[in-house]
Amino acid sequence: MTEPTRILLIVTGGIAAYKSLDLVRRLRERGASVRSILTAGGSEMVTPLALAALSGEKVYQDLFSLTDESEMGHIRLARDADLVVVAPATADFLAKMATGLADDLATTVLLATTAPVLVAPAMNVQMWAHPATQRNVKRLRGDGIRFIDPGSGDLACGEEGPGRLAEPVDIIGAIETLLAQPKPLHNIRALVTSGPTIEPIDPVRYFGNRSSGKQGHAIAGALARRGAEVTLVTGPSVQPPPPVACLTQVETAEEMLAACREALPADIAVCVAAVADWRVKAVHKQKLSRRNGQPPRYEMEENPDILAQLSQTANDRPRLVVGFAAETEDVVDRARAKLERKQCDWIVANDVSDDSNVFGGDSNTVHLITSQATETWPRLSKEEVADRLAERIADALVEPTARP
Ligand code: C5P
Repeated sequence: MTEPTRILLIVTGGIAAYKSLDLVRRLRERGASVRSILTAGGSEMVTPLALAALSGEKVYQDLFSLTDESEMGHIRLARDADLVVVAPATADFLAKMATGLADDLATTVLLATTAPVLVAPAMNVQMWAHPATQRNVKRLRGDGIRFIDPGSGDLACGEEGPGRLAEPVDIIGAIETLLAQPKPLHNIRALVTSGPTIEPIDPVRYFGNRSSGKQGHAIAGALARRGAEVTLVTGPSVQPPPPVACLTQVETAEEMLAACREALPADIAVCVAAVADWRVKAVHKQKLSRRNGQPPRYEMEENPDILAQLSQTANDRPRLVVGFAAETEDVVDRARAKLERKQCDWIVANDVSDDSNVFGGDSNTVHLITSQATETWPRLSKEEVADRLAERIADALVEPTARP
C-alpha cells in the first residue's frame, strides 16, 4: 500500500478471531492505520487489549457507550474508513448483515458506512454450505459487499472442508486489489432516481406501480463503487439501499422532483424511477367510504416529468442525462422517440412484456439508445446491467467521443 489507508476491522466471534491479530500486524507493517470493532462474541475470542496493543488504537465495542459516542460516534467511525473489513465473519453475523440488523456497534457501522466492505467468513463446513448461509452471501454480494471466501482444510471443530478463515496474507491481497480499483468517477456528482412513486387518494389509499427499485439501486451502487458522489432519490422500496453519499426517500412525483432539484448541480442524472404519470387532483382528507354508495371517480392531473425537466433545464443541466423506458412493444422505436421528446442523452430501454419478468425480477434485457446508435445487451442480472452502464458513463465522461 503506497498511501496510508484507514481500515476499520470488525472482529466477530469465530475461533479464527486469533488470526485477526496477525492481520492487524501485517496491515500496520504495510503502513495502514487500523481501528477495530470487537463484537460481544469477538471479545470472547480475543481481548480488546491485544487488539489495541497491536493496532495502536482504542478498540470500540459498545454502541451506547457515552464516552465513545462523544469521542467517536458510530457515524464517524463508519465515515472515517477507506475500507471496512469483517474478519472473521460468523454465520450469525452474515445473517445479521444480510437482513440489515443494527443491534450493536458493528452492524450499525456497517449500515452507516459508504466505504467498500470486504468480508472474510469463517465457520464450520456445514454451516458454510447451508442454504441459509449461501442465501445470505448471495444477497450481500447483490448489495455490493465483497467476499474473500473461506479456504478448505482442517477446521477447529474437527471436520474438514471449506470454512477456514482465509489466510491473513490472502486477506491483505484482497484488500490491496480492492483499494487499487480505479475510481474513474472520483469527484463526479451523480443523481439517481429509483423505485416507484405513489400518489395518494385519501389518507389510506394510493395509486402505485410494480417497480421494485432493484435496477435503480444497483445503478446507484455501481456509480458509487466507481467513486461518484451519489444522491439516490427513491420512492418506497423494500430493496436495501446501497452505500451512497446521500439517500432521500420520497413518496410522490412532486416530492421526487423537489429532491432531484435539491441534488443539483450534478454531472450525471440517471432516472430509473417508475414515476406515476398522473396524480389525483383533489386528495380526499377523510377516508373514502363504501357507504357513500357509488364507486368514486377520480379527476386526475399530470405529474411533472422529472427526466424531461432535468434534460431541458437551462441552468445546472447535468452533462449526461440517462432515462429508462419500459415498453411492451416496439421497444426500440418507442424508446428512441422518447429520447427525442424528452431530450435526454441516452435511454436504456427494456422490454417489460408479460413474459419478461422484469418488474421485481433479478435480470433485465436492455437496449442502450443514444442519438447515434442502438446497442442490444444480452440478458444480464440487474447488477451486471448497472455495472455495464456505469462503465459506459465513466467512459463518456472521461472521453466524450466514447459515447456510443
Ligand atoms: O414516459 P415514460 O414514463 O415512459 O418515461 C420513462 C423515463 O422517464 C424514465 O427514465 C423515468 O424515470 C422518467 N420519468 C420521469 N418523470 C415522469 C415520468 C417518467 O422522470 N413523470
